[in-house]
Amino acid sequence: MKKSTNPPSSKTTSAPRVAIAIMAAGKGTRLKSQLPKVLHEVGGKPLLAHVIAAATRVVPASDVFAIIGHEADRVRAAVANTGVNFILQSEQRGTGHALMVARQLLSAYDHVIVLSGDAPQITPQTIAQLLNFHLDEQAAMTLLSADLDHPTGYGRVIRKGSRSAEVQAIIEEKSASPAQKKIHEINAGFYVFSVPALSSHIEKLSTANPHAEYYLTDMAAVLCHARQKVVVWKTENSAEVLGANTRAELAVLDEQMRITKCSRLMAEGVTIFYPATCVIDNDVEIAPDTIIEPFVQILGHSRIGASCRIRSYSVIRDSEIADGVLIRPGCILEEARIGPGAILGPYSHLRPGSDIGEGAHVGNFVETKKIKLGKGSKANHLTYLGDAEIGAGVNIGAGTITCNYDGVHKHTTIIEDGVFIGSDSTLVAPVRVGKGAYVAAASCITTDVPEDALAIGRAHQIVKPGWASAKRAARKPK
Ligand code: UD1
Ligand code: CA
Repeated sequence: MKKSTNPPSSKTTSAPRVAIAIMAAGKGTRLKSQLPKVLHEVGGKPLLAHVIAAATRVVPASDVFAIIGHEADRVRAAVANTGVNFILQSEQRGTGHALMVARQLLSAYDHVIVLSGDAPQITPQTIAQLLNFHLDEQAAMTLLSADLDHPTGYGRVIRKGSRSAEVQAIIEEKSASPAQKKIHEINAGFYVFSVPALSSHIEKLSTANPHAEYYLTDMAAVLCHARQKVVVWKTENSAEVLGANTRAELAVLDEQMRITKCSRLMAEGVTIFYPATCVIDNDVEIAPDTIIEPFVQILGHSRIGASCRIRSYSVIRDSEIADGVLIRPGCILEEARIGPGAILGPYSHLRPGSDIGEGAHVGNFVETKKIKLGKGSKANHLTYLGDAEIGAGVNIGAGTITCNYDGVHKHTTIIEDGVFIGSDSTLVAPVRVGKGAYVAAASCITTDVPEDALAIGRAHQIVKPGWASAKRAARKPK
């Protein structure tokens, strides 16, 4: 991808050095949130993470600079794993100011692509096309535009003529005249600048505007006055440029992104009933012939194999599910691994570290945590299995509990292959039940059970014949 989207059409002999700067320092006042705007999530990950993912498919992460400021540490921590560089804009005095702060670091490049950290649907293809247009036109500044039915809130593009690609100015909503407000062609907030042109003119920006900020958009008029070429390239896909300034706009983006995700999965052979009711995060992978029923959530980095069926009301996060798995209604899976052909639910709760073997069954109201359940083993009803290694072909009776916690430490229960645990048993860890052994129902197991043994750990039953009728007789009024 990196190679094919890189600029092929440079007119100079050596390839131009291209950086990407992502503006992500703003607070996001309109969201009324403690969380910085670019960390608000759509499609299951932060706005900024989407923009970085697109950017790093156009240039290497080492040439990407995220300009951060408001809650900078938090933003940095959230996306540090992407390998991009950070530039600190400690005071946020506008989008123009963000680029002033970045000027020195960008001086090593010929061109800089500027992206808005709050517009997550931008694609690498569009970024690369914008760059190619900029290089072909040998422009000082190239901006991306789109026609929107509802342009309110966006900057408007003032072209030199209706057919001309050359731009005279970008007018922000608050400064626009009634006639300018009627323009539907909006500034998307994505630009390419020739670095020398940007650096030598950026000081001309002023704060004489309703927000008293340095607007990067004013560079269009500034460069135009300096007889530098400013051009616009319009994308047909206006959804790509939508930004999120409010919670309502976040919801629109999230919905669009999830519908796109479902459409892509369906095109790849996944059946999704009532896709509008399903919440499937952007990075989820699902193989063909799997069926997703209504009201299912599949989140994070979950991977689901082929020919599975995920029934309604299940929530699956960061889990790996092999082929042919049946998940009945109402299951919750977090960081779990499910082997091929396993059956879960209804209402199973698989917590982190649950590793369910091939063909195993985990049933109603069974909670598991940090366990290995071997091939073909079954725990079908009302059970808690935590910190346990359970072999193959094991039957765990209804109501079994591994007592893994002594109030200070967690201990392990080992249940070897072919064991039968009778219903209502408690296994007080650390404890081992040897291969092929039986545990009688209602046992409290506190010491190891050898291979092939029967362990009975319960009080003897006492039967008192006639006791009940004698009691009733004694109670009768005389
Ligand atoms: C901006 C454009 C507008 C365009 C719209 C597209 C300006 C002045 N206006 O408006 O023409 O139609 O985007 O979505 O640029 N940021 C910083 N440092 C700052 C201020 C902002 O890094 O000092 C970042 C923000 O975090 C955000 C991005 O820049 O990611 C854009 O800022 P925002 O305030 O959202 O600009 P808009 O009002 O949407
Ligand atoms: Ca914005």
